[in-house]
Amino acid sequence: MRHLILSLCLAVFTIGAKAQLAVNLTPKPKSLTVSTGKLVLPNKLTIKCKSMPDSIVNEARLFAEQYSKERGTKTKLAKRKGTIALEQRSGMPAEGYRLVITPSGATLTATTTAGFFYGFQSILKMVADDGSLPCCTIDDAPKWGYRGFMLDVSRHFFSAAEVKRFLDLMARYKMNAFHWHLTDDQGWRIPIDKYPKLTTVGATAPNLRMNDMVKGSWMTDKPYGPYSYTKDEIRDVIAYAKRLHIEVIPEVDMPGHFVAALAAYPEYSCTPNEKHEVWVNGGISEDVLNVGNPAAVQFAKDVLTEVMQLFPTKYIHIGGDECPVKAWQDNADCKALMAKLGTDKPRQLQSWFIREIGQFLIDNGRRPILWNESVTAGNANLDWVKEVNPIIFSWFPAEDGCRKAAELGLQTMMTSYSAYYICRGQEPPMTKATVARGTSNPIYTKTTYNYDPTKWAAKPEQLDLMTGVQATFWAEHVVDSCYLEWLALPRLFAVAEAGWSPAEQKNFEDFRQRFAADTTWLRRNNYQFCPNILK
Ligand code: ACM
Repeated sequence: MRHLILSLCLAVFTIGAKAQLAVNLTPKPKSLTVSTGKLVLPNKLTIKCKSMPDSIVNEARLFAEQYSKERGTKTKLAKRKGTIALEQRSGMPAEGYRLVITPSGATLTATTTAGFFYGFQSILKMVADDGSLPCCTIDDAPKWGYRGFMLDVSRHFFSAAEVKRFLDLMARYKMNAFHWHLTDDQGWRIPIDKYPKLTTVGATAPNLRMNDMVKGSWMTDKPYGPYSYTKDEIRDVIAYAKRLHIEVIPEVDMPGHFVAALAAYPEYSCTPNEKHEVWVNGGISEDVLNVGNPAAVQFAKDVLTEVMQLFPTKYIHIGGDECPVKAWQDNADCKALMAKLGTDKPRQLQSWFIREIGQFLIDNGRRPILWNESVTAGNANLDWVKEVNPIIFSWFPAEDGCRKAAELGLQTMMTSYSAYYICRGQEPPMTKATVARGTSNPIYTKTTYNYDPTKWAAKPEQLDLMTGVQATFWAEHVVDSCYLEWLALPRLFAVAEAGWSPAEQKNFEDFRQRFAADTTWLRRNNYQFCPNILK
């Protein structure tokens, strides 16, 4: 009898070991072949790094630390033997990797440190609570080089620690660009030594609007701020992101969305003798930088000089969105500049300013990024904009922005207002989140997921100019990081998949199931998320 039970147990075990296990990976890999069985990683995991350059050994060390932290086990690197073996091979795609998992061990092959990093991310994501990995072969590489997330820290401030939580998420979902929207009408968040009032006066709003799904909208009747990062905090975030293979791209929005700076330094506005206050409400202010005043243009350059000293990235985003020209029409300096430029169209002042600031960035070894209005606003001088070869971030009208950029031979990136603005309302019921932007017109996760970011292109070759996709988050309606996460997730993951996975691999129902599996890790790490698609 005992014999029979033992045999039955063995049979079940054998069937179990031979079964194909589900592979839960978001973003979905480029190619995945599941085989039978599993690899059980030992409690003392060893990673074989024979003849590896220091940079890859370092990558393995960071993985070992993360793996040990997440699983509460010990992990070491070794030269001769290891359950996970690393192999470097030349000629694989940038950020690409191959992962082969068999019952006796795993081999991770890549060319670059980034490739190893993403292979390690896949292992971290796939490993089950019992330490097992499903046997499979993965050949993976991203669809787009730019896979971004933008966070607005002006309308509401998020601490460096809160930002890092997002960087952790981005890395896990293989996103590689953090676009940090550091300044806007409602608050200036980056210290500039030459202009200290930016982070005293400019970082404090006289009042704060709170929005809540249940309680509605009200003013706190208290100043909000001063809130800004220190330069050390910014350096720390950049270093933290670098370890996660995330590039941090700062945005200093100008010449519009500049009220906080003008509250601190009204002499650079078009109406220096009037009162300028950090804005409390959302919307588009007519109070913009006086681009006709050489001292105001120099102010912008001085600010960017310190921004460039802090941020090693090649790319500096200088805004260029939603800039009304009314203040310029009525201003003597601006009228004189228009006469000098031989134009009667005030919008051309913005194009001239873009060229001026863009050239300044180029002279300093950087490249400008701009919102699409720089090329889609009526009367923009496209020749001037083109001269500084900006990358166009297209949001609204998003397809037109990409198309226009491509027509001009400029690179472009898609962050559609109607699909990738993940600050907007989630599908109902909005039980937890604030009354977010567009609550009356929410973006369902399925809409985000099924959006085709390439549909603007009439010819496939136009897509050679497309750099990638971005999830964008504006914080007017979000008072804390709990709401931020609730609104952002799972739509962030839908954009991550658009950035990484081949379009033909996409399937919303499959994504939904993978997200359901991910909620264990999200809950364990205290991330808030909208659960509505799980029902
Ligand atoms: C934007 O949403 N104003 C870029």
